Amino acid sequence: MSLLEIDNVTLRFGGVVAVNQVSFSVEEGEVFAIVGPNGAGKSTLFNLVSRFYDPAEGDIRFDGKSILSLGSHEIAGLGIARTFQNIELFEQATVLQNLLVGRHRHRKSNLVSQALFLPGVREEERQHRQAVEQVIDFLDLQAYREKYIAGLPYGVRKVVEMGRALALEPRLLLLDEPASGLSVEETQDVAFWVEDIKKQMGITVLMVEHDMHLVASVSDRVLALADGKMLALGTPPEVQNHPAVVEAYIGTTEANEKVPA
Ligand SMILES: Nc1ncnc2c1ncn2[C@@H]1O[C@H](COP(=O)(O)OP(=O)(O)OP(=O)(O)O)[C@@H](O)[C@H]1O
Ligand SMILES: [Mg+2]
Repeated sequence: MSLLEIDNVTLRFGGVVAVNQVSFSVEEGEVFAIVGPNGAGKSTLFNLVSRFYDPAEGDIRFDGKSILSLGSHEIAGLGIARTFQNIELFEQATVLQNLLVGRHRHRKSNLVSQALFLPGVREEERQHRQAVEQVIDFLDLQAYREKYIAGLPYGVRKVVEMGRALALEPRLLLLDEPASGLSVEETQDVAFWVEDIKKQMGITVLMVEHDMHLVASVSDRVLALADGKMLALGTPPEVQNHPAVVEAYIGTTEANEKVPA
């Protein structure tokens, strides 16, 4: 059974068909990339999986069960974590605090026992710290642990956002343009991390990305979208060389190449 199934999903915004009869499945343990020109419907697909939008048609299943009856606050509880194209972190909180927020779905103790600081709470807090410290080590964020988000460079915020999603220990990680705005070196780090997230942590990754070098180096399969419609689905070379994909990119000014700083 596939981990995530997008089954003939359509979503309209007024006259715009942002997602048009899209179907694909993401298998457990793979890195699946979605590519396509601006406005193709990539982030909208993420917002559908996150339950921010209801599809007009179709079904979305996670682990074999439809998630359309769930609210967006219940998605993390299933083990689905995401990052946002425009980074969403608590600006006036530290890196550590932001990562602890990512642990939300694992909190068992209620507010009363937390207020009384019962023994179980202390143990639970220790486990959260431990999980978050592992994420900090994995992403090399030690130097930023106590720093406030508001004062951090863009590239570091981007990594913290990935960390916040990882701290949830998800089964499925949705990354919306993890390399956008990053330098060549930072993008290489993202490639290594995505590989390790898949191989060492066993987390399935669904990624939207414009950088075709990154997509080709880390993805098992790629879906190309344009104007909400599926153009091609296959291995990175199959999709990159597909005539419909080549045509969709002609005349667009997609930033596929990064110029070393
Ligand atoms: N909340 C919304 N209200 C109205 N239209 C929207 C909304 N969100 C997205 N759209 C439209 O839906 C289409 C798909 O947008 P989407 O953000 O999914 O594109 P994308 O593939 O993520 O593009 P980009 O590469 O620029 O991030 C676009 O035409 C966009 O203008
Ligand atoms: Mg987008």
